[in-house]
Amino acid sequence: MTGEASSPFDLNGRHALVTGASTGIGRATAVLLAQLGARVTVNGRSVARLEETLGLLQGDGHRAAPFDLADTDAIPRWMKAQAETAGPFDGLAHCAGVQVGKPVRSVDRAFFDHILHANLLSALALARGFRQKGCNTGRGALVLVSSVAAEIGQPGNVVYAASKGGLVSASRGLAMEFLRDGIRVNCVAPAMVETDMMERFRQTTTTDQFEAIRAAHPMGFGRPEDVASAIAFLLSDASRWINGVSLPVDGGYLAQ
Ligand SMILES: NC(=O)c1ccc[n+]([C@@H]2O[C@H](COP(=O)([O-])OP(=O)(O)OC[C@H]3O[C@@H](n4cnc5c(N)ncnc54)[C@H](OP(=O)(O)O)[C@@H]3O)[C@@H](O)[C@H]2O)c1
Repeated sequence: MTGEASSPFDLNGRHALVTGASTGIGRATAVLLAQLGARVTVNGRSVARLEETLGLLQGDGHRAAPFDLADTDAIPRWMKAQAETAGPFDGLAHCAGVQVGKPVRSVDRAFFDHILHANLLSALALARGFRQKGCNTGRGALVLVSSVAAEIGQPGNVVYAASKGGLVSASRGLAMEFLRDGIRVNCVAPAMVETDMMERFRQTTTTDQFEAIRAAHPMGFGRPEDVASAIAFLLSDASRWINGVSLPVDGGYLAQ
């Protein structure tokens, strides 16, 4: 046999769906997956920002699929339509998410539902959609974006932390449930990453508070590309024997 074996990190011939791809971690993920050879379908709500993302992607065949993932019941149907249009998926990176801080005394049902739907129920509906006949190629991988917030106690962040902890537990269960479908399921758990989400968080803190958070990151804050690299690894064949884990991508934040 002649020819070089392709790298296990190579994503040529793969089709990936990236949610949250209109900015931040999702956009960086879409850019890297395309660089590695994948064809990428990018999701978010902002059509204009999805078009900007498409403009950053190397290669051909990429497309935008704007959709509000808060409509969780409609997600499996929406995914079916995407697969019918653009072909079945090999990978899903679920980067869409919302973070809103609130002390538990102010948490009501509407707030709880909003955060849990956006972060956790959306993931379950996407996983369900991905598993449908015709929606995956039988060599699939899902990566859900959790957070170090799932591992540590932070006042004012209880509901967000619960949603991200739920993703870790759910990914373990999904990993086992989807074994016979050839679909692996893992999480990445970033610490603070420089995105719009971090900027919005910064507005809610004093300079001193924010600098204390920065000081708690041994290697400084992360960049979206740092998380994208971990996601690309978990989507690729390089991680073919990794299943049901949550990988901290945190510059040593949890190691202290
Ligand atoms: N940045 C951090 O420090 C950090 C740390 C740990 C974990 N994370 C997690 O990493 C993920 C990405 O974070 P980020 O910092 O990149 O966030 P971001 O800059 O706020 O971007 C969030 C993305 O999610 C999309 N999105 C939100 N709600 C949506 C909905 N209902 N339907 C469809 N798309 C929706 C947004 O798209 P549209 O606005 O176009 O709808 C946007 O593309 C999130 O899950 C976040 O919880 C972030």
